[in-house]
Amino acid sequence: MLILALLGVNVLSAEHVCPLSPKHNCPCSWECMMLALMWPGAFCVTLKYNSSACIIPEYIQNWTIHGLWPMVNGKGCECWPIFPSDLQELEPELSQLWPSLINRERFIFWRNEWIKHGSCAACKEGMNSPTRYFQMTLKLYRRFNIDQVLNTAGIVPSCNNPYKISDLHEVLDPVLGNKHEIQCVKDDAGRQVWVQVKIPLYHNFTLGCHRYDQEKIIVAQSLWSSSPGHPCPPNTPIFYFPINYKEPDHPCD
Ligand SMILES: *[C@@H]1O[C@H](CO)[C@@H](O)[C@H](O)[C@H]1NC(C)=O
Ligand SMILES: *[C@@H]1O[C@H](CO)[C@@H](O)[C@H](O)[C@H]1NC(C)=O
Ligand SMILES: *[C@@H]1O[C@H](CO)[C@@H](O)[C@H](O)[C@H]1NC(C)=O
Repeated sequence: MLILALLGVNVLSAEHVCPLSPKHNCPCSWECMMLALMWPGAFCVTLKYNSSACIIPEYIQNWTIHGLWPMVNGKGCECWPIFPSDLQELEPELSQLWPSLINRERFIFWRNEWIKHGSCAACKEGMNSPTRYFQMTLKLYRRFNIDQVLNTAGIVPSCNNPYKISDLHEVLDPVLGNKHEIQCVKDDAGRQVWVQVKIPLYHNFTLGCHRYDQEKIIVAQSLWSSSPGHPCPPNTPIFYFPINYKEPDHPCD
């Protein structure tokens, strides 16, 4: 009886949340989206309040995907469910390139990204299902291949030799356009540590959409500030830390 009652409540609340078909509660007026790429070597520095939460498997050696986020203030579309089987074929790639480094079931991370961001992207061509949205994001990641770009330019992780932000931009501008943002976190020792690159894209996947475009400025800024990094300050040494698998939250102590 109790179980039936609980089921009944669940069904009712599901109906309450989803009165409309999937497309209805997601605004499709957005023009810009942000591809956020994350450096695993610094991600755990942002979580240092709980070091046991962060785990970097040894097969993670390159930049990873954080997310592909339409610049809307929507809450995403809970009415568009995603199932593990939607990602089954992509799972090996997603585990490598879009891992959750927090100790949790990885499907939960992907599901959150879909509900929060992907379902709002799904009104645009090329991203109109969970599978297509994840596929497209993987494709974009490959297109930019920033590991190779950085390696080729001699920008390599190091605990001791920081970079100038202007040098990083100079290397990345030709592939990411000149509107990308380089983001840092500050570690316990006060160092600015490179953690993320945000690449603005139009909905048709071309580069150059600006986050301050038109009246979207406020929305974009609030979305911007919701992620762990901040723009790396100019005229400050920027550390590009190596991945430390044993102590991911203190890679260079
Ligand atoms: C820290 O993370 C671990 C592993 O995820 C978790 O079990 C623990 O409850 C967390 N501790 C705090 C204080 O959040
Ligand atoms: C990391 O990226 C480089 C450059 O694109 C590539 O050659 C290498 O295979 C990648 N390694 C892993 C483990 O993904
Ligand atoms: C992509 O969209 C932007 C903005 O709508 C437009 O200016 C640009 O021409 C489009 N590019 C392509 C290749 O369709």
